[in-house]
Amino acid sequence: MAPACDDSSTTALVISSPYHPIRRQFITYRLKLHLLFPSLPSLLLLLVAPPLLPPMLLPTVRGDLTRYYGNITYPLDEQLAYCNTLGNLYDGIREDLRRWNDTTGISREALDLAINRYTTKGGQKGMTLAFYGGVPYLIDEPKLEGLGHHVNILFTYMLVMLDLARQYGSQIPNMEFVIASSDRPLVLAADQRPGLIPPVMRFCSSDEHADIKIPIFHFYTKKYTHKYLANAEQLAAKYPWDQRQPIVFGRFSKYYRYIHPLANSTLRLGARNSSICRQESPLTLICAVRAHFMEWAARRYPDLLDVKSGPRVSLEKHAAYKYLLHLDGQALSSRLEQLLPLRSLILKEDSGYKTFYYHLVRPYEHYIPVWRQGGGPEDVLGALRWATAHDKEAERIAAAAQAVALKYLNKRARSCYWLRLLQAYASLQHFTPDPSGKVYLIPVEQYLETTGRTFEKGKQLHKIEY
Ligand SMILES: *[C@@H]1O[C@H](CO)[C@@H](O)[C@H](O)[C@H]1NC(C)=O
Ligand SMILES: *[C@@H]1O[C@H](CO)[C@@H](O)[C@H](O)[C@H]1NC(C)=O
Ligand SMILES: *[C@@H]1O[C@H](CO)[C@@H](O)[C@H](O)[C@H]1NC(C)=O
Ligand SMILES: *[C@@H]1O[C@H](CO)[C@@H](O)[C@H](O)[C@H]1NC(C)=O
Repeated sequence: MAPACDDSSTTALVISSPYHPIRRQFITYRLKLHLLFPSLPSLLLLLVAPPLLPPMLLPTVRGDLTRYYGNITYPLDEQLAYCNTLGNLYDGIREDLRRWNDTTGISREALDLAINRYTTKGGQKGMTLAFYGGVPYLIDEPKLEGLGHHVNILFTYMLVMLDLARQYGSQIPNMEFVIASSDRPLVLAADQRPGLIPPVMRFCSSDEHADIKIPIFHFYTKKYTHKYLANAEQLAAKYPWDQRQPIVFGRFSKYYRYIHPLANSTLRLGARNSSICRQESPLTLICAVRAHFMEWAARRYPDLLDVKSGPRVSLEKHAAYKYLLHLDGQALSSRLEQLLPLRSLILKEDSGYKTFYYHLVRPYEHYIPVWRQGGGPEDVLGALRWATAHDKEAERIAAAAQAVALKYLNKRARSCYWLRLLQAYASLQHFTPDPSGKVYLIPVEQYLETTGRTFEKGKQLHKIEY
């Protein structure tokens, strides 16, 4: 069943509708004697953690983990040749890294700042990783207590690192980096000291933020390729364009938007330029974006705009409508990725939040922007009028959106994106990534086999797409 009310959001703050936690598929936890009584080699590994070894293979358990992070490996030259066919996919990387593409580069000091501020070390949701000799390591112990389901997100990204290591091995340069999991971008560029901008990888960013964009964890936990892309053509055939209902449709949980008041491009106004935000703290505005839209639509245009918080409608049934609204959640919502393959015309909120592939979806080529900067939701009506009057063009735009998802958002393409991003990041490091002298150093695989399987009895070690 496709979740109808997904969200990028996680720590749910909901106005009225009950929060539906994302269904989790837990791995079954089996007591493994060798974890209680580690073998001598694995003890040695934990104690002396020799760097630059090939990945520690734990044959009795390895196959099990492999099932969760996938087991398809392409011959390296074939995969690299495939990556070369995805030229535009990488266009955002240089832009994201431009802040470090100078004489200072990514300095040890800047990385330390990222670790101290944006990982669990600084009370935030993030972790510190490294690749040495093509093998992923954790180089700072994540503090999992109190992270709730973010443990699951961090584990998911760890599994992604294992998957990358298996596919690319030593094509991945030696590097040290931070991956953060919380919902909104936090590294406000204007707040940083020049030459000392902390490099933090996160699934969402904005024009005012320095967060380096990576694919959202939902791609991996929701089996995106399998569930959303594989059926795309069939779904399009089942719902011919002419038979789709010509109204604007959407179902959303009423998450509040969290906005940094200085992140101009993400500020929001309501209908007739009303204020829909309240100042929660000096650094946070809380805005009822989705709730405001739903109330406005239901009050003024119930026949044209079927946008509500319930009842839930499966994503597949969204394809019965010609026009699908995308509203972001607490910050960027992964709903857009789910809508793209449906081949309906997407009306996308111009929220200011961005993720790694947004440069590939362009206004009026792949979607119609609505609720644009500086205005309220009213422009949805103009978009609807335009689409009704330009049916063929609307159909073309819908097909173009689907094509982007099929070509660039499948698992294999995302893996290319990761490789290129990691390589570009590594090229800007102005320090030598070095495992020796690390106080904490453990291969990601080893960490998942031990902590991953035991923390909360392994229930956070989430199933990943294969
Ligand atoms: C790979 O994964 C598929 C799907 O789960 C499974 O059927 C297959 O047996 C796995 N192959 C290996 C070698 O583990
Ligand atoms: C850094 O900038 C140079 C010059 O514009 C460019 O050629 C290079 O690709 C950039 N490097 C990265 C990693 O973005
Ligand atoms: C954007 O922010 C700047 C200061 O950072 C401010 O001067 C300007 O008025 C803001 N613009 C909008 C549209 O809020
Ligand atoms: C909202 O404000 C903008 C810019 O100030 C203006 O162009 C627009 O007409 C206003 N919209 C409404 C509905 O008043």
